[in-house]
Amino acid sequence: MEIWDALKSRHKAIADRPLLALFEDVDRADAFSIQLQDMRFDYSKTNIDRDTRADLIKLAETTGVSAKRDAMFSGARINETEDRAVLHTALRNLDGAPVIVEGVDVMPGVRNTLTRMRSFADQVRDSGVTDVVNIGIGGSDLGPAMAVAALHPYHDGPRCHFVSNVDGAHIADTLEGLDAKTTLVIVASKTFTTIETMTNARTAKAWMLDHGGDPKTQFAALSTAEDKTEAFGIDPDRVFGFEDWVGGRYSMWGPIGLSLMIAIGPKGFDAFLRGGQAMDRHFQVAEPLENMPIMLSLVGIWHNQICGHATRAVLPYDQRLRYLPDYFQQLEMESNGKSVQMNGADADTHTGPVVWGAAGTNGQHAFYQLIHQGTRVIPCEFMIAANGHEPELAHHHTLLIANCLAQSEALMRGRSLTEARKLMQAKGLTGSELERQARHRVFPGNRPSTTLMYPRLDPYTLGQIIALYEHRVFVEGVILGINSFDQWGVELGKELATSLQPIVEGETPATGKDSSTSALVNYIHTHRE
Ligand code: F6P
Repeated sequence: MEIWDALKSRHKAIADRPLLALFEDVDRADAFSIQLQDMRFDYSKTNIDRDTRADLIKLAETTGVSAKRDAMFSGARINETEDRAVLHTALRNLDGAPVIVEGVDVMPGVRNTLTRMRSFADQVRDSGVTDVVNIGIGGSDLGPAMAVAALHPYHDGPRCHFVSNVDGAHIADTLEGLDAKTTLVIVASKTFTTIETMTNARTAKAWMLDHGGDPKTQFAALSTAEDKTEAFGIDPDRVFGFEDWVGGRYSMWGPIGLSLMIAIGPKGFDAFLRGGQAMDRHFQVAEPLENMPIMLSLVGIWHNQICGHATRAVLPYDQRLRYLPDYFQQLEMESNGKSVQMNGADADTHTGPVVWGAAGTNGQHAFYQLIHQGTRVIPCEFMIAANGHEPELAHHHTLLIANCLAQSEALMRGRSLTEARKLMQAKGLTGSELERQARHRVFPGNRPSTTLMYPRLDPYTLGQIIALYEHRVFVEGVILGINSFDQWGVELGKELATSLQPIVEGETPATGKDSSTSALVNYIHTHRE
């Protein structure tokens, strides 16, 4: 496509331009920022100039982003490889218009489930339950686990724990010390077949029975497979269902968010939904230039597909967002880690980037060295609140903000050899030693970053952030021509694990396995006690 070539030529022409030079445009900071309510997204510290931005917007237009967006919101079956609509947005369409799938408005069903969740959550919060254990994995774990940690200041319900790994250590460590008589176990699984979740659920059931609890009244299930939840022995009254048009990694807005609702209460959960809904409305109506999800996507496309930066770091300066990078890894990498386009052709460019990161400032003392002085450029996505939740510790928050701002400034500015020499001279070094030491203190600079700022990390703001990134992934997927809503790439490993289970047990021989796998199985057989 011509527009891709145009963007690549632009990149060639400006690759060595210093980022700081762009700030000769005195309006740059505002012109390359988007304000939505109290949230500000600043992408001015990237090498995108006005012409490049116009071309990026043209790319979004040429690839049909707005039409696809409208199709998604309208309930069209845009997840073509699974023949499903994509309507997680309906879960937060609190007082919005009807959403029609196959001629039927899905909103009454959504509202009915939400009402049931609210009354169940209130009941749990009032009933003396001390601990909630959510058993789920991937999209049935990462969202609520991340959000419960993020919204700790709003947490006034029972303690919440999350068990995901099939490693027995996870459930053993979690259940240790819990009272089986006052614990609620929520089995969260869209399909109710996921081996990790079902294994953990059975273990939790046995634990509860052994320790005087009653799984009949202390288990609940969140799933699209209500026949399977019943077969597991969970009363239909304690099952919260959802439809196949909610993808696992997009599901925390509905029943999968039950543990969050129990933690922060139905009102807090409503605020979370409202934040997501506000981002949806903005995404649907704002012009591309003013559209936060679209511009965030275009920045992503620019860095990954055009500039060739294969990874991006998510760097929330908020200890309570420490699980956000994990959550984004599934959201982004399971959605856009594809090699085949929607039309069956091979992808003609790299698809989703490697997403990683950690909460600031901890990352600064771990991997930022490579971000500043390594040979690879890693676009960084900073986020920070203007306020913390600890007024008595406001000086901590000042330091946190200063660190966040210092990093994006340092990445952009860098430090030249001349500046490094001066520093070494000031330390009294001379001659070849000065030269040698100075070189190690050079920062190349020109390393791009974006910054997302908001007044405070409350439920509404978290809803905005998550919906922002969901739409970002969607827009990038449309531009790349891939389906962001399937995940066939997780299947092969699951199938092989099933076939390996009896081999590991020693019930069947490792016939047909490669010699490495056979030897590794042998090692296990020799060493397993
Ligand atoms: O990893 C594959 C996957 O299907 C994810 O997409 C999903 O979030 C996770 O497994 C859990 O699936 P389920 O909710 O059906 O147990």
